[in-house]
Amino acid sequence: MWIIAFLLIMGLGDLGFGQRYSQFQWLSHLRGRHRYVSWRAEDAECPLECDCPSAYPTAMYCHDRNLQHVPYVPSHIKYVYLQHNQISSIQDGVFDNATNLVWVVLFNNQLESDKIGKNLFSKLRNLERLLLEHNQLTRVPPNLPQSIRDLRLAHNRISKIPSGSFEGMTNLTSLQLQANVLEDVRGAFKGLKSLTVLDMRKNKLKKIPNSLPEGLQQLYLEFNEIESLPARFLTVLPKLQFVRLAHNKLSDRGLPADVFNTSTLVELDLSFNKLDKIPFVHRNLENLYLQANRIKEFSLSSFCSTVDMTNFSKMRMLRLDGNQLSAKDIPSEAAYCLRHVASVDV
Ligand SMILES: *[C@@H]1O[C@H](CO)[C@@H](O)[C@H](O)[C@H]1NC(C)=O
Ligand SMILES: *[C@@H]1O[C@H](CO)[C@@H](O)[C@H](O)[C@H]1NC(C)=O
Ligand SMILES: *[C@@H]1O[C@H](CO)[C@@H](O)[C@H](O)[C@H]1NC(C)=O
Ligand SMILES: *[C@@H]1O[C@H](CO)[C@@H](O)[C@H](O)[C@H]1NC(C)=O
Repeated sequence: MWIIAFLLIMGLGDLGFGQRYSQFQWLSHLRGRHRYVSWRAEDAECPLECDCPSAYPTAMYCHDRNLQHVPYVPSHIKYVYLQHNQISSIQDGVFDNATNLVWVVLFNNQLESDKIGKNLFSKLRNLERLLLEHNQLTRVPPNLPQSIRDLRLAHNRISKIPSGSFEGMTNLTSLQLQANVLEDVRGAFKGLKSLTVLDMRKNKLKKIPNSLPEGLQQLYLEFNEIESLPARFLTVLPKLQFVRLAHNKLSDRGLPADVFNTSTLVELDLSFNKLDKIPFVHRNLENLYLQANRIKEFSLSSFCSTVDMTNFSKMRMLRLDGNQLSAKDIPSEAAYCLRHVASVDV
């Protein structure tokens, strides 16, 4: 009985706080407090809204609870999970005492750029992973810590990235920007020495971004509006292995003659474009996707300019279905050149 009375008193004392919650949330709030009472011995600093299990003393779990605000993050916390809530605004200072944070997980919230403090993340010198996908951001948050390795901004409403947005982020390895409304990114990626994966699928790009980092290994640009490729775009990216350009507006005219003549490329996806010809590709290429174009001719010289015992294509996967080709268009010499291809779909 005294427990119930205690809970009621605590609940009343908390009215101001409770008003931010909808009708039934007071119940889960009280339950949270009940749990807190029993957990207090373990972690006195854990906010009521969250769980701080003693088995993971540096983690704080606050996901899936209809939160509208970020709770206080104690300074010993390294991993904070705030995904699947209704957080739309976060003021500067909220994370200022939590300088040990390594991961901040905020995906699936309602974050708006105008409601995020300009220096919200700036003091988090140990931050490595910032997950902000599925929010309503229109800009890359300013003053991001240079320590970030994994930055996810996919499924937002970002239309521009001013150069300097990622300045000094020399440890950034993976940048996810897919499903935004980006038209132009200018030189935003310059100097990202460690960047290996850049995902910009489902945007409104009309050309390949300028100044892509030299260490890039995977470039995803499907579902954009790219019509042409710059001539030396791949030669300046000596580590690039995977290039995906499916569902763009590429035509033969937009492809400089030897744009794919680069020995490092392993996979090239050009499916669902407007190509009439098979472009010349380097012998080292292993996977080539050309389905759903307008190709009428099978040009063996696109894969092998000469064929002999030692010199042939490393191609394994070749897709040509959804074009204007049939099996009889493939010459018999193709079997020598494309000797690692198990079957060609036409
Ligand atoms: C940060 O910690 C200091 C000292 O522990 C405290 O006075 C201050 O209120 C804290 N700031 C926030 C935003 O919680
Ligand atoms: C990048 O990572 C290295 C090695 O982990 C670390 O020493 C360095 O401080 C990091 N750089 C920044 C800007 O945080
Ligand atoms: C491909 O590049 C090599 C040098 O890297 C060159 O010798 C060759 O002629 C080029 N082939 C085509 C078709 O551009
Ligand atoms: C294979 O053919 C290419 C292009 O004709 C040539 O540059 C290369 O030297 C040849 N390699 C060998 C091992 O014959």
